[in-house]
Amino acid sequence: MILRMMSLLVALLSLGQAAIVRYESEMNLGGYLFLVNRERPISADYVPPDLVRPDVKSTSDAVLMRHDAARALEKMFLAAKEEENYTLIAVSGYRSYATQSSIFSRKVSNVGRKNALLYVAPPGCSEHQLGLAMDLGARRNTSLEASFGDTDEGKWVAQNCWRFGFILRYRDEWTPVTGYAYEPWHVRYVGEEHAARIFEADIPFETYIAQIREAMFAYLVQGGER
Ligand code: DAL
Ligand code: ZN
Repeated sequence: MILRMMSLLVALLSLGQAAIVRYESEMNLGGYLFLVNRERPISADYVPPDLVRPDVKSTSDAVLMRHDAARALEKMFLAAKEEENYTLIAVSGYRSYATQSSIFSRKVSNVGRKNALLYVAPPGCSEHQLGLAMDLGARRNTSLEASFGDTDEGKWVAQNCWRFGFILRYRDEWTPVTGYAYEPWHVRYVGEEHAARIFEADIPFETYIAQIREAMFAYLVQGGER
């Protein structure tokens, strides 16, 4: 734990003081480390600045992501095809507050509020609204079910998405931290460096962000001295 903290701190220090301040504002204002969950909602009118349609196979033309995430997704889909001949399919990317609201209401009607909260974020609490999340499918498996995790494509995504800057956000064993059930189809773009660290540390995004905050706090308390 101490070693992990130290390595995070070294990473932050290597970015320099200005970058650390920028980092902090990115965490709050929409950089790729933007943490959104039920405890940290975003405003109803937040719309990402640079949504584009990734050039990948998708279930609809309305699948959008932020520019960098979309380019990374394209690379990941190409690698899956070239390395293993797997076909990934983009199912759901950016969702507006209003869209998330209808998905959530429908789920509540179908399974009740308590169960709905395990599967769908209430409006304002979904990282799909950030334009940095994508729900993935494979041929004959685009209905976003746990079985995706048992497919070759799902296993490949779990082991390789970090190479392209994505993390698996909702692993089964992380439910007590994330508040959500297993979602092997949901990947979140955080950038290559952070994705590699999170994959190696094998921790939920919430834990990673908490570690960065602690490291930053310790650094700032020390007056920024190395
Ligand atoms: N299914 C994830 C938790 C979402 O709705 O954002
Ligand atoms: Zn999702």
